This record gives sequence, structure tokens and C-alpha cells, in this order.
Amino acid sequence: TIENVKAREVFDSRGNPTVEADVILSNGVLGRASVPSGKSTGDNEAVELRDGGDRLGGKGVLKAVNNVNTLINDKLKGADPFNQAHIDQMMIDLDGTPNKAKLGANAILGVSIATVRAAANAEGIPVYRYLGGVDLELPQTFHNVINGGEHADNGIDMQEFLITPIKRTTFRDGFEKIVNVYHQLKKNLEKEGYQTGLGDEGGFAPDLPSSEAAIDELNRAIKDAGYVPGEEIGIAFDAAASSFAQDDGSYLFEGKKRSAEEMGTYYEGLLDKYPAIVSMEDPFGENDWDNFAKFTQKNGNRVQIITDDNVCTNPALFRKAIKKGMANSFLIKLNQIGTVSETMEAIRVARKNGYTTMMSHRSGETEDSFLADFTVAMHAEQLKSGAPARGERLAKYNQLLRIEEELGKESNLAHFPNDVDFD
Ligand code: PGA
Ligand code: ZN
Repeated sequence: TIENVKAREVFDSRGNPTVEADVILSNGVLGRASVPSGKSTGDNEAVELRDGGDRLGGKGVLKAVNNVNTLINDKLKGADPFNQAHIDQMMIDLDGTPNKAKLGANAILGVSIATVRAAANAEGIPVYRYLGGVDLELPQTFHNVINGGEHADNGIDMQEFLITPIKRTTFRDGFEKIVNVYHQLKKNLEKEGYQTGLGDEGGFAPDLPSSEAAIDELNRAIKDAGYVPGEEIGIAFDAAASSFAQDDGSYLFEGKKRSAEEMGTYYEGLLDKYPAIVSMEDPFGENDWDNFAKFTQKNGNRVQIITDDNVCTNPALFRKAIKKGMANSFLIKLNQIGTVSETMEAIRVARKNGYTTMMSHRSGETEDSFLADFTVAMHAEQLKSGAPARGERLAKYNQLLRIEEELGKESNLAHFPNDVDFD
């Protein structure tokens, strides 16, 4: 049983405070987890409880830490760590708000993940095995190698420009190709006189003239590294359009006010010009469900269209999006909803309705590699966790390399994960 739950304030990759939680079992076994933090957050995300006031720019999390040490500890003492759904439900009930505003989603998620870890440790098995059972495999990974939007100080309006291995024999093989393109991209940018400092997710943050110029850089780097764009390495982007959506329904994009229709035409132009684009995320703002749905009806058969900010890993919002025909893929972020169980429920809703899923890090991360194990355990098709740079990003990829080694022959990339009924 659970003996003690406690938390402390640690720091994330942007130097902001975050919650680290410990779950200690009566036999002395420990489970530990720290929670990430986003910057381009959706309005419907569960609440990250911050202290306010002067200390650490108001971003302290001592209230959330205290909630773990007192209210949550009192509630979970003596509970069964192997009953994750019950543990999560007890915290949801204790919080009592629809968005975890009282205890803080950062407090609750820290304990939720730490409980998974404690239970896996008690059984002496890896987390991916504890949550995922058998017949596991590695995801297709997406790597944000040029950072813009709110993740960098350059003038690029779109937030993320990603590359993904399409043809690969193993995760390692695909990752090596990504590393080769990443280094090639750096060389190309240097040659053209651009800065090669890194953004929040480990990608370069050059001051390119436009989003299309960033996509063009990726296309070129893939070729220069010796790969065929769209066949061996694909391209993806996250516009995070909420960050340039205006209150009147228009978009202030690259210095010009544009209608949603004009944005749609712009995206279609990119898809025509760069056939290597396999996936796009949040092309419209989080209040623009109608245009998002319209665009999906027209283009959903030729590209993966992900929604993130509109639905925030919330099963109820997933159902609403499915009904509307918005997007054909959901981004999955544990801290948008705040417990492991609810995240699994969201994935279930997506799968049942034929939507693909992409697991995701946040722009503010820690060295915690739970996301890698969770992705494998969920038989998730896809994962985005940043560039092959910065320790908090590599923590996930290096863990995937270990998991692939441990799985050995069991992991078979030819097998399509969507076929697996994981519950
Ligand atoms: P965030 O960005 O972690 O800053 O929210 C990630 C995303 O929008 O996908
Ligand atoms: Zn996003």
C-alpha cells in the first residue's frame, strides 16, 4: 500500500519551477515523477497551480507542493498503488473542480505518474511493461528542428517545423537519419549566415523570412543529407495558429491580416509545393472549429491534420471534435488533462473513432523520461519530443533506444499499432 506521498519544487528546461512528486510504498519502494509545462497552452487545459506574488516571477509551485504533502497525502495513505484508476479518481474527487484548479493539475499529475512508477518498481518491471503488457513497439517520432512562434525569439510565426523518418528498419535507424539531417541543417544555416542558437525544443531558431522558408530549409537539408524528402524523411509543422489568431476571426500572419479561407489556401499551397509534408497541427485557432472542420473535409485525405489547443487531451472535447469532423488526429499531452487514467481514456476515444494519436512533450520539460515509456505502453503510433538536442529532449529518445534494445525482436515496426486494442 501507499505509505507516504510528498513533493518538492524543482525546475524545468526554461528555468521555471515545477512539481516533483514521490510516492513511497509500505515496503519502502519509491516512485518519482516531475511534470512538464507548456507555453502555447489551450484555454481548456487543466490548471497549472502557480503561487503568484513576487517570488520566482510568480511562477512558484509551493502551493501545489503543499497540496501533495497534506491533502493528497492524507487521501492516498493506505491506498492500493496497483489500482491506478482508483488513485486518479480519488484525486479528481478530492479536487472537485472540472479543471483541477483547486489542487493543481501539476500536483495531481506528479502523483499520478509517481504512482505508476512505484507500482512498476514494486513489481520489478519497466513502466512500459507495467502499463502496456506485451506485443509492444516503438513509435514513429517527429522532431522539431526549427523553432518559431512562442518557442523562439525569431520572426517566424509558425511554432514548429518537424522532420520524421518514414522509411526505417528500427527506431535507432530512423533516429540516426534524423540526427544526420539535423547536422546538415545546421551546416546549411551557417553557410547562409543564420544564427544557429537553439529554441525551447532544441531546434534551431534562425531569423528566417517566413514559415515557408523554414519548410524549404528542411526540404533542402533532407536532400543534402542524402535522403529523399517524402519517401525516407517526411516534413510536418505545428502552426499553433491560436498564437496569431485575432479576436475578429482573422489571422495576423506574416505581417498581413488574413481570413480563415486565405489561411486555408495558403496551407493548401504548401501541401502542393512540398509533397513531403505528411502532418500538420493546429492550422486554425482554438475558437475556429468550423474552419478547422471545413479544411479537414477538403484535405484530410492527403495529410494528417492534428488538433492540440482545441481539444487539450480532454475525452469530452475529443468527442465533440469527432462529431464535428474536425481534424483526423489528436495530440496527447498528459498535463493538459492531469492524470494518467484520463489520458488513457482520451487515447481510447481517439482509437475507437479512427483518429491517429501523437504523444507530445511540452516546451518546458524536465529530465523525466516517463513519456517514452508511456508512448510505447500505449502502442502509440507517433511521438513528438523535440530535436535531437538538449538533455530534457534526449532523455526521452535515449530511453526509447534502451526500450528498443530491451524489446529486441518483439518490436516490429512493420506492424501497425492502430490494429492493437490496448485495453
Ligand atoms: P507547448 O507547445 O508545450 O508550448 O504548449 C507544444 C505544442 O503546441 O504542441
Ligand atoms: Zn501544438
